[in-house]
Amino acid sequence: MSQGLFITFEGIDGSGKSTQARLLATLMRDYGNDVIHTREPGGSTGAEDIRRLLVEGDPGRWSPETEILLFTAARRDHLERTIQPALDAGKVVISDRFADSTRVYQGVARADLRGTVDALHDQMIGKEPDLTFIIDMDPEAALKRGLARNSGEDRFEDMGLQFQKDLRAGFLALAKQYPDRCKVINGNQSPATVSGEIQAVIEAWQR
Ligand code: TMP
Repeated sequence: MSQGLFITFEGIDGSGKSTQARLLATLMRDYGNDVIHTREPGGSTGAEDIRRLLVEGDPGRWSPETEILLFTAARRDHLERTIQPALDAGKVVISDRFADSTRVYQGVARADLRGTVDALHDQMIGKEPDLTFIIDMDPEAALKRGLARNSGEDRFEDMGLQFQKDLRAGFLALAKQYPDRCKVINGNQSPATVSGEIQAVIEAWQR
């Protein structure tokens, strides 16, 4: 069985990571790889159903504990049906968010629940990316950008600026915890510059 490559993108809301995930998917296809571009919450039929419960509606709709269970349920389905089969087939999987988002959103910013997040991850997911790009961006500018989209998926953006600042600190701390796989990229630059920096990391990684 061949071994694929698992790459994730992380960052606060409005950081530009989705654009970068898409650009990297195109680049990896240009390099001749078979690429699955996916996202969380979502990425499989069942997980997309759970996504709507999580990203729409009132900020107080779920407690942080319930969110951990819902995100982990969605992730388990995504892993079983989309990610693991693709990796087993030797493909490159690029996911817009994965377990680091739960570590930071539910484990640090929503509540001090990192131990619970880690325990559930170990039992139900047990998978880490090979490489994670954390797109680091000024929280104020990112929040403006995120809310301006009017996507109807603003439940976490509606938690306010301090929440986004806590998220940023959480992602930077996470990068220090996992220095081998996490690469912090300055997102306060043009999309083309950000994408050039990501390409340089990928080329160095593949050598
Ligand atoms: P997206 O806007 O990047 O598609 O992500 C949807 C929202 O869900 C975003 O505000 C971050 C949040 N989220 C969590 O709180 N925990 C998680 O584990 C994941 C994957 C996303």
